[in-house]
Amino acid sequence: MRLFIDTGAVAEVEEFAAWGVLSGATTNPSLLAKEAGDPGDIIRRICELVQGPVSAEVVSKDPRGMVAEGRALRTLHEHVIVKVPFGEAGLAATRELTSDGHPVNMTLVFSANQALLTAEAGATYISCFMGRLDDISVDSAAVVKEIVDTLRTNAFGVGAPFVTSQVLAASIRHPEHVVTAARLGCEVATLPAKVLRQMLVHPLTSAGIESFERDWQSRPEFGEWLAGLVEAQPVGS
Ligand code: E4P
Repeated sequence: MRLFIDTGAVAEVEEFAAWGVLSGATTNPSLLAKEAGDPGDIIRRICELVQGPVSAEVVSKDPRGMVAEGRALRTLHEHVIVKVPFGEAGLAATRELTSDGHPVNMTLVFSANQALLTAEAGATYISCFMGRLDDISVDSAAVVKEIVDTLRTNAFGVGAPFVTSQVLAASIRHPEHVVTAARLGCEVATLPAKVLRQMLVHPLTSAGIESFERDWQSRPEFGEWLAGLVEAQPVGS
């Protein structure tokens, strides 16, 4: 499963792009509304940093407006994916955009039926919001499983996929959501900075690093040996 960052903050993308683990990013109108500066500049900068798909959302209510906004957003950067909210208008806009070669991330998908319609409209990504399902006491893992199974299984059984749309786990609130999404077969999960930081931490990792450092420092000659080994390497190797 590939990891995207879910943010409108360039500083966060800079921080996590440096880890080398980001394949893309998602923004939404609420995330961008929290940021100072021109949204176009922000989206372009995020595209440059992640060098992968970056979803930017349309806000019109009708298909014509959505398509016009989607086409315009695509001129910002080659990595922009048009994010379209689920619904009748969104499906019509998705069909038109994808027919013209513009990739779409359909957002606010909460059921297998919505996912089937989204796949039929030609979306590249189907964003299922886990946290918001849990918020209303619906088991997000069960819904994601149903979506993945529905899209990936046909009358001949598992292993005969009939759609190419990728399931993107969104509205991720904690690291357990990430593991669940991966185990259930989602192709992508988009994570807020907080969850990316949480995934990094384990007390045994910190304790292990401390004890290795302590033991190594108990033999100062070993430190000199390693520094000498590094210095002996040809420049640029
Ligand atoms: C997805 O692309 C959305 O931007 C996002 O995951 C929404 O998450 P929230 O429910 O935490 O706002």
